[in-house]
Amino acid sequence: MKDVIIACDFSSKQQTLSFLDRFEDCKPFVKIGMELFYACGPEIVREIKARGHKIFLDLKLHDIPNTVKKAMHVLSELDVDMCNVHAAGTIEMMKAALEGLTRPDGTRPLLVAVTQLTSTSEERMQKDLLINATIGETIAHYARNAQEAGLDGVVCSPLEATLVKNACGKSFMTITPGIRFKDAAKDDQVRITDPAGARELGTDFIVVGRPITAAEDPVAAYKRCVKDFLG
Ligand code: C5P
Repeated sequence: MKDVIIACDFSSKQQTLSFLDRFEDCKPFVKIGMELFYACGPEIVREIKARGHKIFLDLKLHDIPNTVKKAMHVLSELDVDMCNVHAAGTIEMMKAALEGLTRPDGTRPLLVAVTQLTSTSEERMQKDLLINATIGETIAHYARNAQEAGLDGVVCSPLEATLVKNACGKSFMTITPGIRFKDAAKDDQVRITDPAGARELGTDFIVVGRPITAAEDPVAAYKRCVKDFLG
């Protein structure tokens, strides 16, 4: 399963729905992040799902295991396709997340863990977070922890997809933001590549925000991503 996920980083329901209205002939997989969820609540999730989109609910939970388990239980009742936590929350927290997310009938959305944000450079990780390792070592370690906890994959930069696959096996999913067209601005992202590069690196899902949402023609930008990534 490979796909392009659009990061719908908007702050209102109206903005989001009128953005999605432009995609008349396709139903892209969309990511709902903190901004939209905090602004509109669970209702926006239900509304977008009812329109036929798959949803990655990107709330990046990171708290004590019991709190994460209970929060995930609440999220399990929203019919999303993917959710996430921070791997930095420990293996115990990730196991609790998985437990909370699993419905009584045994079904659950995919659960993935954020390794290191794609806006974090190795220098900032070492200096600010006092992690005495390379970014590659940290990501491989966090990915192995996520796998040990039973998660389905990790969020990482496309540049680290191969490293994660080597550490955890091909079927362990990589979800990769940090995508920019070659001719565009990097914004605040640091560890980036373009959609065709992400395809070559073997990632499963690319998450694309501003290169689509801020484009003059978002549908054309999305289709360009799909063509370059999926071929
Ligand atoms: O606009 P842009 O393409 O940079 O959006 C990337 C999206 O992916 C944002 O919603 C951001 O929160 C998310 N993300 C990320 N890096 C991670 C995890 C999630 O950029 N490691």
